[in-house]
Amino acid sequence: METTLILLKPDTVERGFIGQVITRLEQKGLKISGLKMMQLSDELVTEHYDFLADKPFFPNIKAYMMRTPVVAIAASGANAIATVRMLTGATNPQEALPGSIRGDFGLTIDGNIIHASDSAETAEIELKRFFGGSDVFEYSRGFDGVL
Ligand code: CMP
Repeated sequence: METTLILLKPDTVERGFIGQVITRLEQKGLKISGLKMMQLSDELVTEHYDFLADKPFFPNIKAYMMRTPVVAIAASGANAIATVRMLTGATNPQEALPGSIRGDFGLTIDGNIIHASDSAETAEIELKRFFGGSDVFEYSRGFDGVL
């Protein structure tokens, strides 16, 4: 069982797609283990996207991520990290296949709907960053995709 960190980005919140995206995660069999709305600070966005700090589009990412609150989700299940990356689709919605979250809800890279951790190492760091080691819950739904 793995847990991964997901952010529903400002465009998802502004366009009213929070529920539809969460539904896709639950439909797949993933369990919502943590859920909160957060207004991101400059410091938190800078830390989260530190690896993009030298990119010309970095100021745009910061403005985008702080424009409206985001919804942070801890999602758990078998192979959750790779599974969620598969559900999200390619980073650029123009390249994301129909059927994927970015393919179905996004139009351009300037609003790519969702962020999801890309590895076990990143998931651990990002879950701490957004949930601070607390507010992630363990509970049974009877069926968690593992028999
Ligand atoms: P995310 O999956 O959160 O991880 C890195 C983010 O950087 C990515 O989603 C996009 O929001 C953003 N990004 C990546 N490439 C570009 C680009 N060429 N122009 C603008 N934003 C980008």
